[in-house]
This record gives sequence, C-alpha cells and structure tokens, in this order.
Amino acid sequence: MSERLEVVTIDGPSGVGKSTVSRKVAAKLGFTYLDTGAMYRAVALKCRLAGIDAGDEPSLLPILASLDMQLLPAVSADDDAEVILDGNNVSDQIRTQEISMLASAVSALKPVRDILTKKQQEMGRQGRVVAEGRDTGTVVFPGAAWKFYLDAAPGERARRRVEQMRKKGQEVDEQQILAQIIQRDRDDSERTIAPLKAAPDAVYIDSTTIGPDEVVALVLEVVRHK
Ligand code: DC
Repeated sequence: MSERLEVVTIDGPSGVGKSTVSRKVAAKLGFTYLDTGAMYRAVALKCRLAGIDAGDEPSLLPILASLDMQLLPAVSADDDAEVILDGNNVSDQIRTQEISMLASAVSALKPVRDILTKKQQEMGRQGRVVAEGRDTGTVVFPGAAWKFYLDAAPGERARRRVEQMRKKGQEVDEQQILAQIIQRDRDDSERTIAPLKAAPDAVYIDSTTIGPDEVVALVLEVVRHK
C-alpha cells in the first residue's frame, strides 16, 4: 500500500480556477501552496529568453542542467506564487498568453517533466502542501491523502480568463482565448507522458456553475473528514 502523504492535490484543465482555489485552501489549512504550472512556465520563459525552440530537445538539455529556479510563497491568498529565475523575479513575465502556449509545449518533453517532477516531490516531501497542476495526483504525489480534479465547461473557463485579464488591463479577444483553451486542453490531455487526467481516487468537482468559495468549502469539507 502506498504511503499517505499529508498533501492536497488539485488538478484540472487551464482556466478552471485551480490557482484561486488552491491558494485559498492552502491559506485555510496553513499549508504551502505549490504552483507546479509556474515551474513549467519558468522553463518556457528560459527557452524563450535563450531563443530556443520548445521542441528542440538537444538545445534544451543544457538549459535544464543549469536551471536556477525558486518558488516563493504567495504574499497573500489573493496573490500568485512568485518565481525567481536566475536571480530575477519573473512572476509577471511567465503569466502571459505566449508563455502559456510555450509552457504547454515544453511540458510534453520527458527531460523537462523528469526534472520538475523531482523538484516538486522534494518540495512536498515533508507534507503540508497544496499542489496544483495537471499530474500532481497521478504522477507527482500518487500517495497524496486528498486528491481533487476540478473541471468546468470550456466556454465558462474562457469567460473567466478574459475577465481576469481585463482586470489586469490586458486587451483580449474572447474567441482567441477560447480557441487557445481548447488547444491547450487537447495538448495537455493527449500527450504521452503524464497527461492531464483525474486520478482514479480524486474527488471530481465541476465548477461551471459554482464560484471559488463554494469549491474551497467542498475541498475543505473533504480534507477535514477524510
Ligand atoms: O497551470 P498553468 O496554466 O500555469 O500551466 C502551464 C502549462 O504547464 C500547462 O499548459 C501544462 C503544463 N503543466 C503540466 O504539464 N503539468 C503540471 N503539473 C502543471 C502544468
């Protein structure tokens, strides 16, 4: 029997509200929030800055070998986790549409997954972590005590993403965002290594018609009673 680790995993497609929910759950439980997507984004940014094509595996290996990345705890439950790459705070730079698409591409490569999965497992070894991503319940922490899979209809996810970006003052085209969400869902769930899927023992939550606070309440109820 696998060991039950004091870890909460929250997986699901992009734009489903995982970050908001994970941050709030972590704050309520006093656990550390582990944003695994931010790590794939940082690798994507590093490739971008080095002018390397995401599919160019041989050029990627030295980049991975010299990867200097730190995740800092979010300042508050409303903030994104901060990422330091090669000594620079790249928290804003990694959260653009361009880097989203690139992160999805680099995340399909085995050397990238191997190194980041190992880092994530080290970060969660002591437990008391809320890990958010695509494979945290299936691959990174198969022995996690509490697993969740958050889902929502693509149109609703696009609407939320657009609202979020407009709040940040970014110009967005909703149709383009929807097309990118559908594309990323397909890429993330059809890749061979660690595809996006619910762990068989995950609690499935459809958040199409419920807000983040209700999702947080559902998650906390399960954590406190299981
Ligand atoms: O959650 P996010 O949008 O920040 O993730 C960015 C990309 O990273 C996403 O398209 C897929 C990839 N990713 C992954 O493959 N595995 C994870 N555990 C987290 C993210």
